[in-house]
Amino acid sequence: MITKDTLHKIIEEKLADYKFIVVSNRQPYTFEYAGKKIKCSKTIGGLVTALDPVMQASGGTWVAVSSGDADSEVVDKDDIVKIPPEKPTYEMKLINLTKEEESGYYYGYANQALWPLCHIAYRQPTFYASDWENYDKVNKKFADGVIKLIDKEKPFIWLQDYHLTLSAKYIKKKNPDAIVSLFWHIPWPNPEVFRVCPQKKEIIEGLLSNDLLGFHIKYHCHNFLETCEAELESKIDWEESSVTYKGHKTLVRDFPISVDFEALSEMSASPEVTKRIENLPAEIDHPYDIMAFSVDRIDYTKGILEKIRAVDRFLEKYPQYQGKFIFFQKGALSRLHIKTYKNLIDEIQSLAEEVNWKYRSRSWYPIVLVNQKIDYSMQLALCRACEVCMVNSLHDGMNLVAKEVISSKVDHKGMLILSKFTGAARELKEAVLVNPYDIDNVADAIKEAIEMSEKEKQERIEKMRQNIKENNIYKWAAKFIGELIKI
Ligand code: F6P
Repeated sequence: MITKDTLHKIIEEKLADYKFIVVSNRQPYTFEYAGKKIKCSKTIGGLVTALDPVMQASGGTWVAVSSGDADSEVVDKDDIVKIPPEKPTYEMKLINLTKEEESGYYYGYANQALWPLCHIAYRQPTFYASDWENYDKVNKKFADGVIKLIDKEKPFIWLQDYHLTLSAKYIKKKNPDAIVSLFWHIPWPNPEVFRVCPQKKEIIEGLLSNDLLGFHIKYHCHNFLETCEAELESKIDWEESSVTYKGHKTLVRDFPISVDFEALSEMSASPEVTKRIENLPAEIDHPYDIMAFSVDRIDYTKGILEKIRAVDRFLEKYPQYQGKFIFFQKGALSRLHIKTYKNLIDEIQSLAEEVNWKYRSRSWYPIVLVNQKIDYSMQLALCRACEVCMVNSLHDGMNLVAKEVISSKVDHKGMLILSKFTGAARELKEAVLVNPYDIDNVADAIKEAIEMSEKEKQERIEKMRQNIKENNIYKWAAKFIGELIKI
């Protein structure tokens, strides 16, 4: 098993002569004013959950966009600050964007063109030339920020996600010897879907400036190779899984991302979380015997509306659960300047009210929505204690919540319902797998998960725990770095 210490050693041995630089849109820690004080918090989302432990083991510099209102107070003249503040192990360099750049690059091209294009959730992508211009400009700004960090040491640069498809091109232009790679955290669609993108050629060319490209699953690697074949005059080596374009070879590999299993299990078993579990009925302040729990960023790809419809169907089909069962949905507000996201919050709210009205009796109603922040120990308490956890994404690269939930289940109680359309479903085969679009299928899955024998639940949870324990986040990082070192 690869642990934080083993990864640390691998990096010390293999990357000793390199400068390790991770680059992403989202910053791992933000600094915000809380009255007159400055508060530092870890940001949410799969990318930070996965990469922060890796950076804590490896050290180096993480380059990201500044979004905290007090960030500028804590950085030095090069926009660098050491993090995490309580025990600094790596540095964060912040990039400042203008409002126009942020609108075009993040809210525009990244999240209204590429996000819906790559997720098959039936939302149409929109492509505006002005968004693309800002996206290109910001990708260059990222590359310039990275180049400034490079001195005598050979750089080892690890770009993250769909926000940064063009940065490798700009980095390589100035530093052809730099080792540059990118991990793609979302699905890559098939060529038929990708062909509608007006900037498809520039995007693929940008990605092929990387020496290594990583996806969560083989299927996405395959889609990417097929897209290159369809769109560019490039040489595809199917056996090696590589693309050679204009004399440069890019390796394409699958690396299923994961979580820090040991740390999560330990936290989940802590007296603090155990105490929270004892107090759950009081904290939830809502009568229930059986709880299904979900935690998602409020995004149309996460299938939140579909889950509420399935709970409705479950209570309709199996009325014996009325008055006993609740569905506790924790939602993290996200990308609020995009209309689709704002509208989704209203839709979720009104559907929940409709379903609650249908079944309400005395003080019980089935759908409990919580959009305000809950602290992490409470989230772990809910994951560990719930009878059913539902991860019902319509499409998801991996979905780390599924792996977090299983890591938290230290007493092997409860069951996971998992969408077949997540990367996680390829590994967590012992979960109750569902088609999230099929409302009756999900309604029946809720019943199956509740009524499964304790013995079967324990066996299934244990198998999934062993899988995540072995294939943890440190193994993911070690495999990626190991592949890159070969280059
Ligand atoms: O899953 C894709 C992803 O970009 C992750 O990399 C990230 O954790 C998550 O979405 C959150 O998105 P945002 O940074 O836009 O809030």
